[in-house]
Amino acid sequence: MPVLAVNVDHVATLRQQRRGIEPEPVTAAHLAELAGARGIIVHLREDRRHIQDRDVELLRACVKTRLHLEMAATAEMQAIALRLHPDTVCLVPEKREELTTEGGLAVAGREDDLRRYLQPVWAAGIASSLFIDADPAQIEAAARIGTQIIEIHTGHYADAATDAARDAELAKIMAGIAMGRDLGLKVNLGHGLNYVNIHAFRNVPGVGEYSIGHSIVSRALLTGFSEAVGRMAAIVESFADQT
Ligand code: PXP
Repeated sequence: MPVLAVNVDHVATLRQQRRGIEPEPVTAAHLAELAGARGIIVHLREDRRHIQDRDVELLRACVKTRLHLEMAATAEMQAIALRLHPDTVCLVPEKREELTTEGGLAVAGREDDLRRYLQPVWAAGIASSLFIDADPAQIEAAARIGTQIIEIHTGHYADAATDAARDAELAKIMAGIAMGRDLGLKVNLGHGLNYVNIHAFRNVPGVGEYSIGHSIVSRALLTGFSEAVGRMAAIVESFADQT
Protein backbone atom coordinates (compact mmCIF):
# COMPACT_ATOMS: atom_id res chain seq x y z
CA MET A 1 0.00 0.00 0.00
CA PRO A 2 1.42 3.43 -0.87
CA VAL A 3 1.70 5.73 2.13
CA LEU A 4 1.92 9.46 2.77
CA ALA A 5 4.90 11.06 4.48
CA VAL A 6 4.36 14.69 5.45
CA ASN A 7 7.06 17.32 5.17
CA VAL A 8 6.65 19.89 7.99
CA ASP A 9 9.39 22.30 6.84
CA HIS A 10 6.95 25.11 6.13
CA VAL A 11 5.47 25.03 9.60
CA ALA A 12 8.99 25.98 10.66
CA THR A 13 9.19 28.55 7.84
CA LEU A 14 6.29 30.41 9.41
CA ARG A 15 7.80 30.18 12.90
CA GLN A 16 11.20 31.41 11.70
CA GLN A 17 9.52 34.47 10.22
CA ARG A 18 9.35 35.74 13.84
CA ARG A 19 12.12 33.57 15.30
CA GLY A 20 9.47 32.67 17.87
CA ILE A 21 7.94 29.52 19.28
CA GLU A 22 4.88 29.04 17.05
CA PRO A 23 3.76 27.26 15.02
CA GLU A 24 5.59 24.24 16.40
CA PRO A 25 6.62 21.61 13.81
CA VAL A 26 6.56 18.88 16.44
CA THR A 27 2.84 19.57 17.05
CA ALA A 28 2.23 19.50 13.30
CA ALA A 29 4.06 16.18 13.07
CA HIS A 30 1.97 14.74 15.87
CA LEU A 31 -1.29 15.87 14.22
CA ALA A 32 -0.07 14.52 10.86
CA GLU A 33 0.55 11.12 12.40
CA LEU A 34 -2.85 11.11 14.10
CA ALA A 35 -4.44 11.94 10.73
CA GLY A 36 -2.75 9.09 8.88
CA ALA A 37 0.75 10.13 7.86
CA ARG A 38 3.11 7.17 7.97
CA GLY A 39 6.23 9.29 8.05
CA ILE A 40 7.45 12.78 8.92
CA ILE A 41 10.01 14.54 6.76
CA VAL A 42 12.23 17.51 7.50
CA HIS A 43 14.97 19.12 5.46
CA LEU A 44 17.72 20.49 7.68
CA ARG A 45 19.27 23.03 5.33
CA GLU A 46 22.78 24.37 5.73
CA ASP A 47 21.36 27.90 6.16
CA ARG A 48 18.75 26.70 8.73
CA ARG A 49 16.09 28.80 7.01
CA HIS A 50 13.24 26.67 8.39
CA ILE A 51 13.97 23.48 10.31
CA GLN A 52 16.46 23.93 13.18
CA ASP A 53 18.68 21.33 14.81
CA ARG A 54 16.41 21.31 17.88
CA ASP A 55 13.45 20.40 15.66
CA VAL A 56 15.20 17.28 14.40
CA GLU A 57 16.19 16.35 17.95
CA LEU A 58 12.65 16.79 19.26
CA LEU A 59 11.10 15.02 16.29
CA ARG A 60 13.46 12.09 16.77
CA ALA A 61 12.14 11.79 20.31
CA CYS A 62 8.46 12.29 19.39
CA VAL A 63 7.81 10.80 15.95
CA LYS A 64 6.13 7.44 16.30
CA THR A 65 6.00 6.51 12.61
CA ARG A 66 9.22 7.10 10.67
CA LEU A 67 11.45 10.15 10.60
CA HIS A 68 13.05 11.02 7.27
CA LEU A 69 15.86 13.57 7.23
CA GLU A 70 16.51 15.34 3.94
CA MET A 71 20.01 16.75 3.77
CA ALA A 72 22.89 17.72 1.56
CA ALA A 73 25.78 15.25 1.39
CA THR A 74 28.08 17.24 3.68
CA ALA A 75 30.24 16.16 6.61
CA GLU A 76 28.17 18.33 8.97
CA MET A 77 24.91 16.63 7.98
CA GLN A 78 26.43 13.18 8.12
CA ALA A 79 27.52 13.83 11.72
CA ILE A 80 24.02 15.07 12.63
CA ALA A 81 22.39 12.02 11.05
CA LEU A 82 24.72 9.66 12.88
CA ARG A 83 24.00 11.45 16.17
CA LEU A 84 20.22 11.73 15.83
CA HIS A 85 19.55 8.53 13.93
CA PRO A 86 16.56 9.27 11.66
CA ASP A 87 14.99 6.19 10.08
CA THR A 88 16.05 7.40 6.65
CA VAL A 89 18.32 10.03 5.22
CA CYS A 90 17.42 11.41 1.82
CA LEU A 91 20.29 13.09 0.01
CA VAL A 92 19.21 16.17 -1.91
CA PRO A 93 21.10 18.85 -3.83
CA GLU A 94 21.19 22.16 -2.02
CA LYS A 95 21.90 25.65 -3.25
CA ARG A 96 21.90 28.55 -0.83
CA GLU A 97 20.07 30.91 -3.20
CA GLU A 98 17.27 28.53 -4.26
CA LEU A 99 13.70 28.94 -2.95
CA THR A 100 13.25 25.17 -2.79
CA THR A 101 15.06 22.10 -4.08
CA GLU A 102 15.22 22.71 -7.80
CA GLY A 103 16.13 19.35 -9.25
CA GLY A 104 17.35 15.89 -8.51
CA LEU A 105 20.78 15.09 -7.16
CA ALA A 106 23.40 14.27 -9.81
CA VAL A 107 24.54 10.82 -8.74
CA ALA A 108 25.86 9.40 -12.03
CA GLY A 109 29.65 9.68 -12.06
CA ARG A 110 29.75 10.17 -8.27
CA GLU A 111 28.96 6.57 -7.33
CA ASP A 112 32.18 5.90 -5.38
CA ASP A 113 32.03 9.18 -3.43
CA LEU A 114 28.37 8.76 -2.53
CA ARG A 115 28.83 5.11 -1.55
CA ARG A 116 31.72 6.13 0.71
CA TYR A 117 29.58 8.91 2.17
CA LEU A 118 26.68 6.57 2.87
CA GLN A 119 28.64 3.65 4.27
CA PRO A 120 28.73 4.95 7.89
CA VAL A 121 25.04 5.83 7.58
CA TRP A 122 24.17 2.29 6.52
CA ALA A 123 26.48 0.88 9.19
CA ALA A 124 24.46 2.83 11.77
CA GLY A 125 21.28 1.09 10.56
CA ILE A 126 19.90 4.17 8.77
CA ALA A 127 18.37 3.58 5.34
CA SER A 128 19.24 5.94 2.49
CA SER A 129 17.21 7.53 -0.24
CA LEU A 130 18.53 9.54 -3.17
CA PHE A 131 16.37 12.32 -4.57
CA ILE A 132 16.92 12.09 -8.32
CA ASP A 133 15.29 13.04 -11.59
CA ALA A 134 13.44 10.38 -13.57
CA ASP A 135 16.53 9.90 -15.71
CA PRO A 136 17.63 6.34 -16.53
CA ALA A 137 21.32 7.23 -16.06
CA GLN A 138 20.64 8.56 -12.55
CA ILE A 139 18.43 5.63 -11.59
CA GLU A 140 21.05 3.09 -12.74
CA ALA A 141 23.74 4.99 -10.85
CA ALA A 142 21.58 5.01 -7.70
CA ALA A 143 21.28 1.23 -7.91
CA ARG A 144 25.06 0.91 -8.37
CA ILE A 145 25.65 3.04 -5.27
CA GLY A 146 23.63 0.55 -3.23
CA THR A 147 20.94 2.85 -1.84
CA GLN A 148 17.78 1.07 -0.76
CA ILE A 149 15.44 3.85 -1.86
CA ILE A 150 15.16 6.49 -4.56
CA GLU A 151 12.78 9.42 -4.50
CA ILE A 152 11.89 10.49 -8.01
CA HIS A 153 11.61 14.25 -8.37
CA THR A 154 8.09 15.16 -9.49
CA GLY A 155 8.70 18.92 -9.57
CA HIS A 156 9.17 19.13 -13.35
CA TYR A 157 5.81 17.37 -13.77
CA ALA A 158 4.14 19.64 -11.21
CA ASP A 159 5.57 22.82 -12.74
CA ALA A 160 5.06 21.92 -16.43
CA ALA A 161 3.65 24.89 -18.32
CA THR A 162 1.72 22.98 -20.99
CA ASP A 163 -0.30 19.77 -21.18
CA ALA A 164 2.23 18.31 -23.59
CA ALA A 165 5.14 19.09 -21.25
CA ARG A 166 3.22 17.66 -18.29
CA ASP A 167 2.45 14.44 -20.20
CA ALA A 168 6.09 14.11 -21.21
CA GLU A 169 7.28 14.55 -17.61
CA LEU A 170 4.68 12.09 -16.38
CA ALA A 171 5.81 9.50 -18.93
CA LYS A 172 9.41 9.88 -17.71
CA ILE A 173 8.30 9.42 -14.09
CA MET A 174 6.26 6.30 -14.96
CA ALA A 175 9.24 4.79 -16.79
CA GLY A 176 11.48 5.73 -13.85
CA ILE A 177 9.21 4.02 -11.36
CA ALA A 178 9.24 0.81 -13.42
CA MET A 179 12.99 0.96 -13.90
CA GLY A 180 13.68 1.57 -10.22
CA ARG A 181 11.49 -1.35 -9.24
CA ASP A 182 13.17 -3.62 -11.80
CA LEU A 183 16.53 -2.69 -10.28
CA GLY A 184 15.26 -3.72 -6.83
CA LEU A 185 14.88 -0.21 -5.45
CA LYS A 186 12.05 1.09 -3.32
CA VAL A 187 10.63 4.05 -5.24
CA ASN A 188 9.11 7.12 -3.61
CA LEU A 189 7.80 10.28 -5.28
CA GLY A 190 7.94 13.86 -4.14
CA HIS A 191 8.06 17.58 -4.81
CA GLY A 192 5.27 19.84 -5.96
CA LEU A 193 2.53 17.27 -5.51
CA ASN A 194 -0.85 18.75 -4.65
CA TYR A 195 -4.51 17.80 -4.32
CA VAL A 196 -5.00 18.02 -8.10
CA ASN A 197 -1.85 16.70 -9.75
CA ILE A 198 -1.52 13.68 -7.45
CA HIS A 199 -4.47 12.00 -9.17
CA ALA A 200 -2.24 11.11 -12.13
CA PHE A 201 -0.65 8.44 -9.91
CA ARG A 202 -3.91 6.78 -8.92
CA ASN A 203 -3.39 3.62 -10.98
CA VAL A 204 0.39 3.51 -10.84
CA PRO A 205 1.70 0.47 -9.00
CA GLY A 206 5.08 0.38 -7.36
CA VAL A 207 5.25 3.66 -5.46
CA GLY A 208 6.09 3.19 -1.80
CA GLU A 209 5.68 6.66 -0.37
CA TYR A 210 4.49 10.09 -1.42
CA SER A 211 6.49 12.92 0.15
CA ILE A 212 4.32 16.02 0.37
CA GLY A 213 4.70 19.28 2.25
CA HIS A 214 3.81 22.62 0.71
CA SER A 215 0.31 21.80 -0.51
CA ILE A 216 -0.66 20.23 2.82
CA VAL A 217 0.65 23.13 4.90
CA SER A 218 -1.06 25.60 2.52
CA ARG A 219 -4.39 23.84 2.79
CA ALA A 220 -4.13 23.53 6.55
CA LEU A 221 -3.53 27.26 6.83
CA LEU A 222 -6.64 28.16 4.85
CA THR A 223 -8.99 25.49 6.15
CA GLY A 224 -8.13 26.62 9.68
CA PHE A 225 -8.48 30.33 8.94
CA SER A 226 -12.18 30.79 9.71
CA GLU A 227 -11.87 29.00 13.05
CA ALA A 228 -8.83 31.07 14.00
CA VAL A 229 -10.44 34.41 13.09
CA GLY A 230 -13.74 33.45 14.70
CA ARG A 231 -12.02 32.54 17.95
CA MET A 232 -10.11 35.83 18.11
CA ALA A 233 -13.19 37.89 17.15
CA ALA A 234 -15.15 36.17 19.93
CA ILE A 235 -12.44 37.04 22.47
CA VAL A 236 -12.26 40.67 21.35
CA GLU A 237 -16.04 41.08 21.31
CA SER A 238 -16.34 39.49 24.76
CA PHE A 239 -14.49 42.58 26.07
CA ALA A 240 -17.71 44.54 25.52
CA ASP A 241 -19.26 42.70 28.50
CA GLN A 242 -16.56 44.12 30.76
CA THR A 243 -17.15 47.83 30.02
N1 PXP B 1 10.95 15.68 -1.52
C1 PXP B 1 12.08 16.43 -1.47
C2 PXP B 1 13.39 15.75 -1.69
C3 PXP B 1 12.02 17.80 -1.20
O1 PXP B 1 13.16 18.53 -1.15
C4 PXP B 1 10.76 18.38 -0.94
C5 PXP B 1 10.67 19.84 -0.60
O2 PXP B 1 11.34 20.10 0.59
C6 PXP B 1 9.63 17.56 -0.98
C7 PXP B 1 9.75 16.21 -1.30
C8 PXP B 1 8.25 18.09 -0.70
O3 PXP B 1 7.90 18.98 -1.71
P1 PXP B 1 6.62 19.90 -1.52
O4 PXP B 1 6.86 20.76 -0.34
O5 PXP B 1 6.57 20.66 -2.81
O6 PXP B 1 5.45 18.98 -1.34
